[in-house]
Amino acid sequence: MNLGLRGKRAIVTGGSQGIGRCCALALAREGVRVCIAARTRTTLDSVVAEINSAGGEGHAVAVDLTRRENCDAVVNETVGAFGGVDILINNVGAARNADILHLDVAQISEALQLKTYSYLRMAQIVIPLMRENGWGRIVNIAGGAGTSPTRSNIPTGAANIAILNVTRALSDAVSGDGILVNTVCPGLTNTSRARIQQQARAEREGRDVEAVLNDLGATVPAGRMAEPEEIANVVAFLASEPCSYVFGSSIYMDGGGRRSTP
Ligand SMILES: NC(=O)c1ccc[n+]([C@@H]2O[C@H](COP(=O)([O-])OP(=O)(O)OC[C@H]3O[C@@H](n4cnc5c(N)ncnc54)[C@H](OP(=O)(O)O)[C@@H]3O)[C@@H](O)[C@H]2O)c1
Repeated sequence: MNLGLRGKRAIVTGGSQGIGRCCALALAREGVRVCIAARTRTTLDSVVAEINSAGGEGHAVAVDLTRRENCDAVVNETVGAFGGVDILINNVGAARNADILHLDVAQISEALQLKTYSYLRMAQIVIPLMRENGWGRIVNIAGGAGTSPTRSNIPTGAANIAILNVTRALSDAVSGDGILVNTVCPGLTNTSRARIQQQARAEREGRDVEAVLNDLGATVPAGRMAEPEEIANVVAFLASEPCSYVFGSSIYMDGGGRRSTP
């Protein structure tokens, strides 16, 4: 399938590693010019080199996306480098979770600040640019925790469920302008974040974190975690030209683990 993405201009937040890096590379292989944003310059620079090798054109902005002015800076730099923005992949996220009986509510605020608020701000800033061209794609990376709360994932879940609501509202506001907004909800995915999230449990149980992750992967029908490349393939389709009749939707990529419908 020709995704019709050659020459498009994208921003991927949290694009320096994990799912964001794979999204940036999947778009680059389609000839997209990709700006990635995260805090650490060294990892950003190495992914820019990978984007260039993959057939795209890379640019990076080193910023902390919890700050509103930094969201503006990412868009301004992308417009300066590429002349506009056609695709936004909102992916940044790094919630600190804790058991509900000991959870500091500040952790919920932090999760909302980094993830939900930056997603909404980034969308608000790029939408006027997309409207000028009558075309745009916004993909928000949320996560299964939004609709599957446990006693230990409330900050992540609070940010994710709010993103599902934001996606629906944004979609209603802009789908008539040719701008399609969707959410992808990954299940457990093989990234360094998954390791950080499970490290405390591994230490508590006196086990290796890889064994904990393998056991968690074995509990879903797929029998394993997702690979970040698998998430990125679906994100690239949702960002594409042939994706013309999917919007305001949430795509669950959890290896069949989700029990509720729809
Ligand atoms: N992995 C999973 O199992 C899983 C499951 C469901 C949903 N998700 C969601 O998928 C998304 C990506 O997860 P991942 O596992 O790929 O995470 P990851 O490997 O930890 O990557 C996170 C990215 O965000 C950047 N980042 C973190 N804090 C930032 C900040 N304050 N400002 C700017 N950039 C920041 C990181 O770079 P710097 O640290 O250099 O800033 C990095 O590029 C997240 O939204 C996560 O909630 C992941």
